[in-house]
Amino acid sequence: MLPSDHRPATLIPGGAVFPHRHLTGIAGLAPHEITFLIDEAEQWIDANRARAKSDKRLEGLTLINAFFENSTRTLLSFEIAGKRLGADVVNMGVNQSSVKKGETLIDTAVTLNAMRADVIVIRHGSSGAVQLIADKVDCPVLNAGDGSHEHPTQALLDALTIRRRRGSVAGQRVVICGDILHSRVARSNLLALTALAADVRMVAPSTLMPAGVERFGATAFTDFDAALDGADVVMMLRLQSERMNGAFIPSTREYHLRYGLTPERLARARPDALVMHPGPMNRGVEIVSSVADDPARSAITEQVETGIAVRMACLDVLTRRARGVDGWA
Ligand code: CP
Repeated sequence: MLPSDHRPATLIPGGAVFPHRHLTGIAGLAPHEITFLIDEAEQWIDANRARAKSDKRLEGLTLINAFFENSTRTLLSFEIAGKRLGADVVNMGVNQSSVKKGETLIDTAVTLNAMRADVIVIRHGSSGAVQLIADKVDCPVLNAGDGSHEHPTQALLDALTIRRRRGSVAGQRVVICGDILHSRVARSNLLALTALAADVRMVAPSTLMPAGVERFGATAFTDFDAALDGADVVMMLRLQSERMNGAFIPSTREYHLRYGLTPERLARARPDALVMHPGPMNRGVEIVSSVADDPARSAITEQVETGIAVRMACLDVLTRRARGVDGWA
């Protein structure tokens, strides 16, 4: 097993090097490292709009996607990203795997490692599961969402989307509203957006607001209308009912009345405020269709597009060591 050292993997602004072997979270990334990954992703947006999209830089490498939780956007975009970079992509069918016979996560990780995967992408329902696997394998591991902990590539694609639509992330007032308590998207975005100097407001009923978001530089609100004042970006999150063991809200109807994004409520934000949602949406609960589908305001499908670019960039950067690129020759 390779040591989890911090030798150079690739050049980043200022002549330094990207030091991380895995991408398990936004936590631990310096602001210039976040910016570096976003900058790297920019090139792939135009490339992905061309008719011929293939690039061979990961040719000969094997990417395994192991998703222990359901996914549409993240799984497909990692698969597309790997294929566009020329990797051999294998999606592990967890429901058909020996996990269903009781095989442990660590034994599964050791098995994938013995198959000589070159990069592994993991989604898992337990916070910390991805780090556990990263500690057991020889190749880079990317976190595609672990429990309510982190979803780093989602935060990177959100930051890139904001930068492309608003010109910068710094100084933007970003209102993140929904089930903050259970949301890995909220956590990763809080870390990424505050690192990039956005003015972040977190909005939730008190039952769905974790303690201490102020420690990370955000402002907590329970009043969505008040939080929307001067907003440049409004990011809506769904209720993560699969992570709730109990009743956190009186009813979805009550929740929609206080925390649903409607045209009337959006009018409290800046006239050109951008609407975002990581998906999947629960239309009529946290957002109504007339807002979600408004091409002038909604960046929701653009988020999907930037998602492929970000995942291509992350796969490229994290495999540079194995490919002998930038100081690894
Ligand atoms: N945003 C996101 O993670 O969506 P999926 O669950 O469809 O991957």
